[in-house]
Amino acid sequence: MEIDPQHLDKAAGYQLMISLLIPRPIAWVGSWDGEKTDNLAPFSYFMGVSAQPPRVAISVARGRGGSLKHTARNILATGEFSISMVEEEALGPMHQTSGAWEQSEFDAVGIARAPGQVIRPPRVRDARVAMECKLVQSVDLESTHLFIGEVLLYHIAEGLLKNGRVDIENYHPMARLGGEGYCSLGSRVDLPPVRV
Ligand SMILES: Cc1cc2nc3c(=O)[nH]c(=O)nc-3n(C[C@H](O)[C@H](O)[C@H](O)COP(=O)(O)O)c2cc1C
Repeated sequence: MEIDPQHLDKAAGYQLMISLLIPRPIAWVGSWDGEKTDNLAPFSYFMGVSAQPPRVAISVARGRGGSLKHTARNILATGEFSISMVEEEALGPMHQTSGAWEQSEFDAVGIARAPGQVIRPPRVRDARVAMECKLVQSVDLESTHLFIGEVLLYHIAEGLLKNGRVDIENYHPMARLGGEGYCSLGSRVDLPPVRV
């Protein structure tokens, strides 16, 4: 079967894309408006794009009528954002923060903040992995903004690292599937590096 994406309407194109590219890690993004209100929302168009310097990317679609979501507006205004990683016990609260709240989702959903150390936006206090990021580049892709951020500071819970890597036996990130689905890590396979 072949599908020409030009023949799909916006909703069908979105549903197809998010069900094909799975599982996706979830960036729980903290931002602030440059005045007094902070914001927290999940984004699963999220990936690491370079390690040296460490850079990550998120993609924030336009909202209804082409308006900017709070996260996009805030990042464009301040050039800063935090990313907290979502583990199993935070799944429900994270999902709640995807609602179109007018007030800060930290307050609306009751999520404790930790203050940024090198940026102004807070992060999720209880997240065992978080990053403080500064905007390096934003790309306006019309229906969406791609934001590339440099990680200025990692926050990693004591005991979570083993030999410089996250201890996978002790880390339980949630990922997004298509539709309304989420998943945790499945079975693991180790393969040695390929030396040619
Ligand atoms: C798990 C999850 C992942 C999401 N990923 C994205 C995404 O990658 N891009 C996007 O624009 N919206 C995404 N959303 C929807 C936003 O979280 C939602 O539009 C939210 O209201 C934006 O909040 P804001 O206006 O406070 O920025 C996602 C929602 C959930 C629950």
